[in-house]
Amino acid sequence: MGYLTSPALSETGYVVLDRHDQSADPAEWRDLEYVGWRSSGITRFAPLASHAGDIECNGFWNHTPPRADKDGVWIPSQVAKAPTLQARALEPGANVGRCRVIELQPNTYADAIYNLHQDDNNRLNTEGTGWVVRAWLNLTDDPDSLLILRSDRFDPSTEIRLPLYAGSRIVVDTQRFWHAVWHQGPEPRYSLICSWTSGPELDAYLTAGNADPHPASVPLPAALVAEAQAEMHRRIEERRQAFEAHGIVMEPTESLYS
Ligand SMILES: [Fe+2]
Repeated sequence: MGYLTSPALSETGYVVLDRHDQSADPAEWRDLEYVGWRSSGITRFAPLASHAGDIECNGFWNHTPPRADKDGVWIPSQVAKAPTLQARALEPGANVGRCRVIELQPNTYADAIYNLHQDDNNRLNTEGTGWVVRAWLNLTDDPDSLLILRSDRFDPSTEIRLPLYAGSRIVVDTQRFWHAVWHQGPEPRYSLICSWTSGPELDAYLTAGNADPHPASVPLPAALVAEAQAEMHRRIEERRQAFEAHGIVMEPTESLYS
């Protein structure tokens, strides 16, 4: 039966939209309440919508009752501080699941490659309904930082690197792509992350934003990529051995995060 998906994402699985004028908006993310939540790198999150309107970040499927990543409950104390961010999450008119601001501390390219993971946005999603995709609306201006996407976690030739300017808008099928951010710093990077449900509303938003399925990918020196590959494999092996010492078998393809 399948799911309702976006034609704009059918070709490559990711699109870059016209940039939002971030400078016209207040820096509401500075006022939000953040909680520790492990993602790719050293991160904290400020949830705006969660499973039940509490300030927490767990997947909706990990709660009772479990549900798909849809119908996020807005957190009154957070949206009171960030009405503009909430409005941006609601702008497409698509269903919003998890919605939060991520704070990412500076890291290295090798860190990012090691942190590559796929999301699990469509766990418990009912067939015949809209496929859940992810949007990153970058808030801080991090032109030297890159959203890294790989269709094959271990193959750098599949890598796409998208710069993270203030106002960058990127929508990705994050269940299809391994992804992580290389944030060069020196300040933390902030981005609004929304789980949006595919459908006519999202399609119209993508069209209005001139969604580009072939944005330019930033080139990197081959030696840097090769070093990061070697470091990724070294860390994966190190982790496997650490788990093995505790009697836990870990598949080499297993993701660290969900
Ligand atoms: Fe992710």
